[in-house]
Amino acid sequence: MKIGIIGAGVVGRTIGKLAVRAGHEVMLSNSRGPKTLYSLPHATGCRVGTVEDAVAFGDIVVAAVPLSAYRALPAAQLAGKVVVDTNNYYPERDGQIAELDEHRTTTSEMVAAHLAASRVVKAFNAVIMNDLETDGRPVGDAARRVLPIAGDDAEGKAIVTQLLDELGFDTFDAGALAEGRRFERGTPAYCVPLGREALIRALAAA
Ligand SMILES: NC(=O)c1ccc[n+]([C@@H]2O[C@H](COP(=O)([O-])OP(=O)(O)OC[C@H]3O[C@@H](n4cnc5c(N)ncnc54)[C@H](OP(=O)(O)O)[C@@H]3O)[C@@H](O)[C@H]2O)c1
Repeated sequence: MKIGIIGAGVVGRTIGKLAVRAGHEVMLSNSRGPKTLYSLPHATGCRVGTVEDAVAFGDIVVAAVPLSAYRALPAAQLAGKVVVDTNNYYPERDGQIAELDEHRTTTSEMVAAHLAASRVVKAFNAVIMNDLETDGRPVGDAARRVLPIAGDDAEGKAIVTQLLDELGFDTFDAGALAEGRRFERGTPAYCVPLGREALIRALAAA
């Protein structure tokens, strides 16, 4: 499939590189334009373009920008698309966000409220990108990690499950997008290598 990625930092380029290795076509973008991504095609196998190019290119789009930039995601152009939200809330980077500090919402629900016509799936947020590169294992390997996903769109979750499978990871569907709170930063499941039973226990404990 074709994957457009908004954000070409640690997350964007790691997911992009691994997805290309798995046989997908990927376009990376950032806020400063493709000239600032000049060496990435060689390093990752991804194409580069503007944000608008990447959104138009992608059958699905990965949002890999800091949470502080989520309002810059082009909602009109993303309408109808599956958007994979990789965000986490780091106040020292993103500034204090009262709704999150007071647990009135979750990061992915904020993104989904902005992208009201998109099909947002929360994924990739609870794994360190270095681990995403090194921890992938074949199907059936006893050490295969299980990564949590959440979302309100079944087809979107199926697409992300397939992609993670190709990258060497099982998934556990934690339920609706709001259930993403169970694997946000600071929860027992956050960025910890877990198998299925341990992940289910960690999500339940959150
Ligand atoms: N690092 C990890 O291991 C990891 C793992 C899971 C989840 N996450 C989460 O994933 C998100 C991205 O993290 P990261 O580590 O990849 O951050 P990063 O290395 O700082 O990269 C951020 C990227 O977003 C781009 N960007 C910023 N504002 C933008 C805008 N308005 N429009 C388009 N692109 C924009 C930046 O490009 P410009 O410089 O051109 O603005 C940069 O390419 C964060 O919420 C992070 O917490 C990180």
